[in-house]
Amino acid sequence: MRTPIIAGNWKLHMNPKQTTEFVAAVKDKLPEASKVEALICAPAVDLESLAQAAKGSELRVGAENAYFEDEGAFTGETSPKVLKEMGMNYCIIGHSERRGYFHETDEDINKKAKALFANDITPIICCGESLETREANKQEDWVVSQIKAALAGLSADQVSNLVIAYEPIWAIGTGKTASSDQAEEMCKTIRDTVKDLYNEETAENVRIQYGGSVNPGNVKELMAKPDIDGGLVGGASLKPDSFLELVNYQD
Ligand code: G3P
Repeated sequence: MRTPIIAGNWKLHMNPKQTTEFVAAVKDKLPEASKVEALICAPAVDLESLAQAAKGSELRVGAENAYFEDEGAFTGETSPKVLKEMGMNYCIIGHSERRGYFHETDEDINKKAKALFANDITPIICCGESLETREANKQEDWVVSQIKAALAGLSADQVSNLVIAYEPIWAIGTGKTASSDQAEEMCKTIRDTVKDLYNEETAENVRIQYGGSVNPGNVKELMAKPDIDGGLVGGASLKPDSFLELVNYQD
């Protein structure tokens, strides 16, 4: 049985004070983490406030990016080792905004996954196709190749424990959600890919999220699909009420 995971990706929003206020507003109304994991991934500058405010609650905390080295002459980067010291449970890697605006490659994302595992932080590996790729009906090949590259060299045990987020780029921040059938189809393809690369047990264990205009109005339908284990949510995770509706979708 996979534990559903609903995660907010705040992107470049919120400051430390807003972070503390947000957590104070949600922390007593979250589901038990053993039933549904509620996670906030915040900008690096907010992580100390996030970790402090979430202490002792059911809220899981995470970063939106990390580098693949723990320390060194890498100006402006974020150390996975320090993220661990700060208490981060998760870290998003390979978001399409990182791949697009900051030119991250599949190889970088694979190195980041390994560096996070070395620091006991669970990676949330993002994948997803552009509108152009979908219109050319090449989305499966595209996503399968992203997954193969991201997982290269990871053990079955590591893959069993990580999270994959399928986020079609054309559905991000556009209000245009993939239909629940389109989302399920690709999440199943990803699970089948993990089965081909590893084995049935690993494929059954890995959690797969859908991301792209998830909101309180569509979360239930998406979560009812057999291969969708969670949501990675941008805009609708920024307000406490809406985040609470998302994580309490089972009520
Ligand atoms: O990582 C979450 C994301 O890219 C989706 O954003 O605003 O469409 O929920 P949004």
